[in-house]
Amino acid sequence: MPDMGPRPTEEISDLLVEDRTFAPSPAFAKAASMRDPDIRSKAAADMERFWADAAGELDWMRPWDKVLDWNPPNARWFVGGRINASYNCCDRHVENGMRNKAAIIWEGEPGDRRVITYWGLYREVNKFANALKDLGVKKGDRVAIYLPMIPEAVVSMLACARIGAVHTVVFGGFSAEALRDRINDAGAKVLITADGGYRRGQILPLKHDADYAVRETPCIQHVVIVQRGNFPLRVVDKRDHWYHRLIQNAANYCPPEPCDSEDPLYILYTSGTTGKPKGIVHTTGGYMTGVHATTKLVFDLKPTDVYWCTADVGWVTGHSYLVYGPLAAGATCVMYEGAPDWPDRDRFWGMVEEYGVTILYTAPTAIRAFMKWGADWPKKHDLSSLRLLGSVGEPINPEAWMWYYEHIGGQRCPIVDTWWQTETGMIMVTTLPGTDAMKPGAAGRPLPGLSIEVLNAAGEKVTIGGGLLAITKPWPAMLRGIWGDSERYRTQYWSKWDIGTYFAADGAKVAPNGYITFLGRVDDVLNVAGHRIGTMEIESALVDNPAVAEAAAIGIGHAIKGQALVVFVTLKEGYRPTATLESELKDHVVRKIGAIARPERIILSADLPKTRSGKIMRRLLRDIGEGRVLGDTTTLADAETVNHLKQAYEEGEE
Ligand code: PRX
Repeated sequence: MPDMGPRPTEEISDLLVEDRTFAPSPAFAKAASMRDPDIRSKAAADMERFWADAAGELDWMRPWDKVLDWNPPNARWFVGGRINASYNCCDRHVENGMRNKAAIIWEGEPGDRRVITYWGLYREVNKFANALKDLGVKKGDRVAIYLPMIPEAVVSMLACARIGAVHTVVFGGFSAEALRDRINDAGAKVLITADGGYRRGQILPLKHDADYAVRETPCIQHVVIVQRGNFPLRVVDKRDHWYHRLIQNAANYCPPEPCDSEDPLYILYTSGTTGKPKGIVHTTGGYMTGVHATTKLVFDLKPTDVYWCTADVGWVTGHSYLVYGPLAAGATCVMYEGAPDWPDRDRFWGMVEEYGVTILYTAPTAIRAFMKWGADWPKKHDLSSLRLLGSVGEPINPEAWMWYYEHIGGQRCPIVDTWWQTETGMIMVTTLPGTDAMKPGAAGRPLPGLSIEVLNAAGEKVTIGGGLLAITKPWPAMLRGIWGDSERYRTQYWSKWDIGTYFAADGAKVAPNGYITFLGRVDDVLNVAGHRIGTMEIESALVDNPAVAEAAAIGIGHAIKGQALVVFVTLKEGYRPTATLESELKDHVVRKIGAIARPERIILSADLPKTRSGKIMRRLLRDIGEGRVLGDTTTLADAETVNHLKQAYEEGEE
C-alpha cells in the first residue's frame, strides 16, 4: 500500500472516492507496537495459544488448567484460573513502579478537576470495597450503580470487582422506571447513586429518581450517595449512607477476592427485539484478557499516552475502554462529566490541548455534531498531541471520517473504526493502526485471534458482497449469557445457523481484501445517536399509556443522530389527536425509558397499515417517514390507511 502521508486540504474532497484508502503515516507505522503484517495469520494458526499469551500479560492468582472449554453455545475460558479484575487495574501498577502515575484525569462539567494516581485509585477502591462488605455485600451479590461520569463510578465498579460482587451500571440518562426494572431483574442488594450530576448546565436529579425507583425494588437494602454537588435531597434513615462517610470509616486494605475465571464480573442491560432489555453477563478472566489485549493492540497504547474515551460508564464502551481495558494496561485516562458543547462547542478541543491527549476514542454522532458546528472550533486549539483517533457505536460515514481525519487528526493520525457490541465485550473488527490501510466507511478486518465471516441467510460464506455478520469461533470476552434467561441467550444469538455460530444481527458487506463495511442492524433495534434502542421497548412503553391503542416505532435517517425515532400511534376510542397529546406521549416515553428514547416525532393516526394477516407493515412506515415513493401495497388490508398516514406525516412536517 503506498504511503499517502499528509496532503493539502484542497485535495481532501477528491479523496471521497469509494475505493480510496489511507496508509498510516511512516512515522506512526515505525513507532507502532504491532508492526507484524502477518499477525492475523500467525494468530489463526493457534488461536488458543494467541489468547493464552494475551492472558499471560495479566496477573493471575492461580494459573488456568485449560484455555477453552467450548460446549456450544457455552464457553469457559481459562478454566480453573483465578483472577481479580481490581487487582489487575490497581494493585499491580502500584507494585510495579506506577504508584504516582495518573490513572484518571477527571474534569467536571463546571470546570472542577481531579487527578487520581494509581495509588489514589488503589486506596479508594480498597476502602470502598470494605465499606460495601460492611453493608453486607458478599461475593456474587449484585450492586446497581447509577452515577454521573465522576471518578466514584470507576471506584464503585472496581470495588465490586475486588470483593467478587457483580455490578450493573445503569446509564444516568435512564429514567427511574428503567432503573427500577434493571435493579429488580438483577436482584441488586445495594444501589450506589449521587445527589446529582451536571449536564449542559442542568442538574440531573439522580438521587430523586433513585428514590422513586427504590420504592418498588424490595431487593435493595442500602443506598449509597456520592456527594457530587450540594443538591437538595432526602436521606432515608438506616437505608441511605453518604459515600464519603463510609470511606472515612472503612479500613485501608481489602484483600482482593480470588475469583474464578468464569465468575461474573458484571451485568449490563442492553436493548433487544422484545420490550424487555437483556442483562448481558460478562465474566472475569476471558473478559479482562480480551479488553486488555485489544486496548493495547487497537489503540497502540504506550506508557506515555494520555488516553481519552468519551463514552459514559453506563455503556459497554465505558466498561471495556474507559475502565477495565485501559486501567489493566496502566494507562492515564481522561474522564469528563458533561456535554461537548458546554459552555462552548470547543470543550473537547480545549481539554485535548490542556491535558495533551494523545488518543481520542469517540462516536460518529459526536463527530457529525462537531462537523456541523464547524472546523473553527477545533482550530482554536493546539491538537498536535493527538496521534490516534477512534470511532465506535455505529457506522461512520465517509464524510464524517474525512472531517475527523483532517480537522481533528491533522491528517497524521490513523483512525480506528471499531466494530463490536455489548455482547462481544471487546473490539472485534477494525484496522491495526500500525500496519493496515484505512478505508473511510469500512471498519476493517477481524482482529487477530478471531474468526468472523459474512454469511448469507443459508449460512454460506460470502466472499464478496453483502450478508450477515457471524462469529464462527468463541472469543474470550464473549457474553456468557443473558441474566436469568438462558433460553433467550440460545435463541437470540446461536440459532440463526448452527449452534456454534454467533448471529450479531448486523448487516455487513465484505470486499475482496476482507474489509468489512457495516450496514446497520437487521433486527428491530435502532441506533439513535449511538444509543441502542429496541423498537419494541418504545412500543410497549407507549401502549402502557391509556390513550394508546397501538404503536409502531421506526428509525429514519438523521444527519447527526444517524437514526431518529419516529412513532406511529393509533388512539383508543374517545381520545382526540392533539398537539398536547402528542407531547404528552413523548414525555410518557421519557418517563418509561429516559430522555435518550424521546421520539423525534409521534404521528397520531386513525389506523396503521397492516397485511391481511394483521402484521404492521414497517417498511411502508419507513417509506413514509423517509419521504420515499411508496412501496408495494398490494398485500395491504386497507390501502387507504397509507394515504391518510402519508398526509398526516406531511402535514406535521410543514
Ligand atoms: O450495529 C452495530 C453498531 O452498534 C451495535 C452494538 O451496539 P451496543 O451493544 O450498544 O455497543 C455499542 C458500542 C460497542 C452493533 O450491533 N456498531 C457498533 N460499532 C460500530 C457499529 N456499526 C458500525 N460500525 C461500528 N464501528
